[in-house]
Amino acid sequence: MPPLSPTDLPAPPAELALLAIEVASEAAEFVRTRRRAHFEIDVKSSPTDMVTEVDTATDTLIRERLTARRPDDGLLTEEAATVTGTSGIVWVVDPIDGTTNFVYGRYPHAVSIAATVDDTPVAAAVIEIAHGDRFDAWLGGGARRDGTRLAPVAATPLPLALVATGFGYDPERRRRQAAVLERIIGDVRDVRRLGAASFDLCSVACGEVDVYYEHGLGPWDLAAGRLIASEAGCAVDRIAGGHGAGPLDGSDVIAGHPQLVEDLRALLVRSGVERVAEIVGARPPA
Ligand code: IPD
Repeated sequence: MPPLSPTDLPAPPAELALLAIEVASEAAEFVRTRRRAHFEIDVKSSPTDMVTEVDTATDTLIRERLTARRPDDGLLTEEAATVTGTSGIVWVVDPIDGTTNFVYGRYPHAVSIAATVDDTPVAAAVIEIAHGDRFDAWLGGGARRDGTRLAPVAATPLPLALVATGFGYDPERRRRQAAVLERIIGDVRDVRRLGAASFDLCSVACGEVDVYYEHGLGPWDLAAGRLIASEAGCAVDRIAGGHGAGPLDGSDVIAGHPQLVEDLRALLVRSGVERVAEIVGARPPA
């Protein structure tokens, strides 16, 4: 499929980004207010995969706001069923990315909202809730942090690179992810586990970490952050390579300066991890 052109979308991507920012800002304020009160906690895929009543209430708020403004658009949100629209635009939403951090009162946790067309993000907003950092991007329009355009990131050599990653909720997957990490940790500057994939991608975009990789993500974890990283000039790809920042066809991602992405991928392979995605149980590329 040819890459999407900003002039050939069902709606101007800058307008979609403004709506994403507006709704994400209201949702972030809602989460901050609800954090101060008691909230119930439930679990999803495993005993450590938490969902709070604030996640579900925020999911509802975001769906209501988007549907009121754009009733013909589709919705794919972490805490609710998929809604098929007719406009060609599907909003992909994580009401609280980093729920574990939210529950523990830790930074970062974020509202993540992306407008997608043909599974490709075209407009995005990520708002970190604890500190209020606001990232946005639209296709062909660059990426911004608090309204200031992000400059392209530097080409850090791999031995000096600060690497971010994350772990899934399934215990066996986590063990395999830790085994992969053990193989590479001696060859990079250091490793960070921030706890919110959307914010990991924004951190790559603004140079607060050098490169990020993770397996086993949902589309709502990835959609907004990967547009922000790619509009900031980063390479955003599948770990096994070859797909680029195209459709959301996988659950694994590697993002950073294009050279660093290549170098980290080569390190993963040199470490005996030829088929990283399969080793950690993610779906291999088609
Ligand atoms: C999680 C976070 C975390 C990542 C997990 C995700 P959630 O999302 O993004 O950083 O390592 O893989 O599931 O569950 O907090 O929305």
